[in-house]
Amino acid sequence: MKNLVNILIGLFLILSTTLTAQNLEFADLLQNINSRQNTSLNGKWDIIVDPLENGYYNHRLLPKDNGYFKNAKMTSPSDLIEYNFDTSFQLDVPGDWNTQMDKLYYYEGTVWYKKDFTYHANSDKLAFLYFEAVNYEAIVYLNGERIGSHVGGYTPFQFEVTNKLKEGDNFVVVKVDNKRKKENVPTVNQDWWNYGGITRSVHLITTPKSYIKDYSIQLPKGNTTTIDGWVQVENSKDGDLVTINIPELKKSVNSILKNGIAKFSVKAKPVLWSPYSPKLYEVIIKTPTDKLTDHIGFRTVATDGSKILLNNKPIFLKGISIHEEAPFKTGRVTSKEECKILLQWAKELGCNFIRLAHYPHSETMVREAEKMGFMIWSEIPVYWTVQFDNKDTYANAQNQLTEMISRDKNRAAILLWSMANETPEGEARLSFIADLAKQARKLDNTRLITAALDTQGKGNDGNLIEDPLGTIVDVIGINNYCGWYAGAPETCPDIKWASKYDKPMIMSEVGGGALYGLHGNKNERWTEEYQADVYKKNIEMMRNIKFLAGLSPWILMDFRSSRRPLRRIQDDFNRKGLISEQGMKKQAFYILKDYYNNENN
Ligand code: GCU
Repeated sequence: MKNLVNILIGLFLILSTTLTAQNLEFADLLQNINSRQNTSLNGKWDIIVDPLENGYYNHRLLPKDNGYFKNAKMTSPSDLIEYNFDTSFQLDVPGDWNTQMDKLYYYEGTVWYKKDFTYHANSDKLAFLYFEAVNYEAIVYLNGERIGSHVGGYTPFQFEVTNKLKEGDNFVVVKVDNKRKKENVPTVNQDWWNYGGITRSVHLITTPKSYIKDYSIQLPKGNTTTIDGWVQVENSKDGDLVTINIPELKKSVNSILKNGIAKFSVKAKPVLWSPYSPKLYEVIIKTPTDKLTDHIGFRTVATDGSKILLNNKPIFLKGISIHEEAPFKTGRVTSKEECKILLQWAKELGCNFIRLAHYPHSETMVREAEKMGFMIWSEIPVYWTVQFDNKDTYANAQNQLTEMISRDKNRAAILLWSMANETPEGEARLSFIADLAKQARKLDNTRLITAALDTQGKGNDGNLIEDPLGTIVDVIGINNYCGWYAGAPETCPDIKWASKYDKPMIMSEVGGGALYGLHGNKNERWTEEYQADVYKKNIEMMRNIKFLAGLSPWILMDFRSSRRPLRRIQDDFNRKGLISEQGMKKQAFYILKDYYNNENN
């Protein structure tokens, strides 16, 4: 008996140590910020445009420690200080600068942002500055002192600032630099506008000294009658109690903290989340000093040969790709209302699936999509020709992947983590993406790993999927533009598809462009009739792909790209949208809608 007890203790210790190690792999991020004591720092911020990095360090004009981040003020009439946030311009946060100020439309460089705020210290609280996204590189200063930096334009980051805040008046300065660089992720070439700025919300969050930092609560892979999870509590004592309560399931579980982690597993039979029934449960997590509420769905996802299974049943993903371009005002999406407009259009189209391209969208977009029952493909911007042989580039990509999974690991709607989009074949690229897939599976072994591959090379009489990336992913994304970039639309229906892999394929991009309101006959490029015919002919082709498990045609709405200058047709917009950026539906919208509503997949 004694041996058995020793074995069990040993097992527990290994498990809890492993778990602790595993949790250290997630990003240093507060989970579920909307459930916390939260002061918004959104609104007007003072800005200084600084193309020469003058405010960062210029030995001639500024002593090394007196950059713009000091927000220096004249103390005597003879002082020489050649900047002043108080008399400078202002920008809205959240928001990109390109669509807020005409002279910043094409600007790629540094803009300094500054915001004054008051804070009343409370010795029982910790304080965090939390940025939902800044594109592309941020250096953050609080009261003139550098507190940290972040690289990557589409994932959140935070700094604990408890001991750096003053009682009463404080100011935060952010140096935002959106210059494209070869070693960045994405690299210098992208087919979307390089919107710079503090593009998502900024929060001042306070927590109790001992606080719930992170948690994961979901069905284990392939199991629909157990809810598993762990809760990470900072500054906790071994033996402290954590309670996880799911009132609607009449489940309340206690777990003991050890090394800041409390694991749990409870038998339960939740109504499973699906597009037909996007059921979310209120989950309340309590510790002796903290309490959080989240709304979590429970479902399983897997593949079986070329099928994607949701809750053990095959499901066909009727999707659409979406960029984070705001309808009507254009520029970056900045509000829940704009997310809901895009999602409502996808609903009207008959979709049950959305591909959030080519980067993680806001947490708001993911949560709203989950509530509406959309299955989600979420992606990091390893796009085209990133530097696959650069270890710093890899570290950057892995960090963005880790931040994406850390933020959204409790979102049942996300079925697929996408590692990349249209990357050229090669050894360095293969190992780069294989390593990303390994990291993703280490963080989350329940979701499917995918990537969008470029159009496949010609097989003997059509397209043969043989990219070695097919060995690494669970689901193969294929971007194929028959009728637009290759071949005339009438050639599409006869293309035969084959695959070296017995895995599901998602046609992750297909389609063509049209200017809304431009009409002519169907062989005239840019007319709505041409785009509609591209959709018709590609739908005929896709009906014959036996291993097709879904599609996310390119794209829901026209979006801005500096690769699309064709005057009076593109005018800096990629026109492959089924809807114009002013919300006008093109003929092709109804072709795809008809396919989704009448296809008996
Ligand atoms: C590519 C790419 C998209 C791009 C699209 C296009 O496949 O993945 O980002 O916008 O094609 O050329 O319109």
